[in-house]
Amino acid sequence: MTAPHIPVMLNEVLEGLQPRDGGLYIDATFGAGGYTRAILEAADCRVLGIDRDPSARETAERLKAAYPGRFAFGFGPFSMMEGILDEADSSGADGVVFDLGVSSMQIDQAERGFSFQKDGPLDMRMAQSGPSAADAVNGLEASELAAIFRVYGEERQARRVAAAIVRERQVEPITTTLRLADIIARAVGGKPGRIHPATRAFQGLRICVNDELGELSRGLVAAEYGLKPAGRMVVVTFHSLEDRLAKTFLRERAGLVPGGSRYQPEVLPEHKPSFSLVSKKAEAATEDEAAVNPRARSAKLRAAIRTSAEPFPRPDSAFPGAPSFDRLLEIAS
Ligand SMILES: C[S@@+](CC[C@H](N)C(=O)[O-])C[C@H]1O[C@@H](n2cnc3c(N)ncnc32)[C@H](O)[C@@H]1O
Repeated sequence: MTAPHIPVMLNEVLEGLQPRDGGLYIDATFGAGGYTRAILEAADCRVLGIDRDPSARETAERLKAAYPGRFAFGFGPFSMMEGILDEADSSGADGVVFDLGVSSMQIDQAERGFSFQKDGPLDMRMAQSGPSAADAVNGLEASELAAIFRVYGEERQARRVAAAIVRERQVEPITTTLRLADIIARAVGGKPGRIHPATRAFQGLRICVNDELGELSRGLVAAEYGLKPAGRMVVVTFHSLEDRLAKTFLRERAGLVPGGSRYQPEVLPEHKPSFSLVSKKAEAATEDEAAVNPRARSAKLRAAIRTSAEPFPRPDSAFPGAPSFDRLLEIAS
């Protein structure tokens, strides 16, 4: 049995979304449906839940039965939100919420291969399809692995970790989480009481395998296009890379940064703001919540309101800087 997923910053999410009767809300990261259920209870509204993990379907079916005519599920990545919305025959959404990363169920199930504390196949694919972490670890060049660990994992000893992996995979392909965790731990050392030495490298691999930052940049743009004027967006992030991306996107869309940025170089400075920020600073979970739910400790919430201005032009690149997901597709094919 795995522990149920406890929704993070639920009160703050509802405050940010302000569900109202007759509205349509997108729960872009449906997971165990914690946010969806709360939104459906908060107002006589409809929710479209999206998740790319096929195992979310079972909970979705239960919610469909519990809230007839008020809940629909779209299976797929949230970057496809606009297509999923069109299928739902909607003129736009009144709110979109993202609760990023993996759920407790995904982490806790050893066979999903996300955990460095339980032995399982080296998988890490939220969608249960496409290239796996084992494909990356056994197939990418040392320099590509080092870039993943450095950029996505913010691991200072990225090159050392990559070199250890390349050495070990020559002996035998690396196919399990505990073997990889052990190789990393031996490469980076680590002091007792600190975070597990494989934490950062595992984070980097997970982000790469699931193209998480590419998905987030495309998902935010999709929400910008899918929200009605006055529609509300809430983004809950769990590490600095995600939060930086959400912050940069929102500040830019709110007209708070002149010109463009590294990620969205096409922004026209004269464009009218497409979002207004609910607050300039990200909100953290309360101490009480963090004390009972460890996932809440690193959570940051940003909320914004869609203006009536045209959306910004679509950027043509996702997230440069580390081996791209396309390269992973190439080596796994
Ligand atoms: C942190 S959990 C969400 C938990 C949910 N808010 C709840 O209360 O039960 C994140 C979920 O989003 C899904 N997910 C993450 N990235 C996604 C993406 N790009 N597209 C679709 N689903 C995604 C994961 O599969 C996971 O089920």
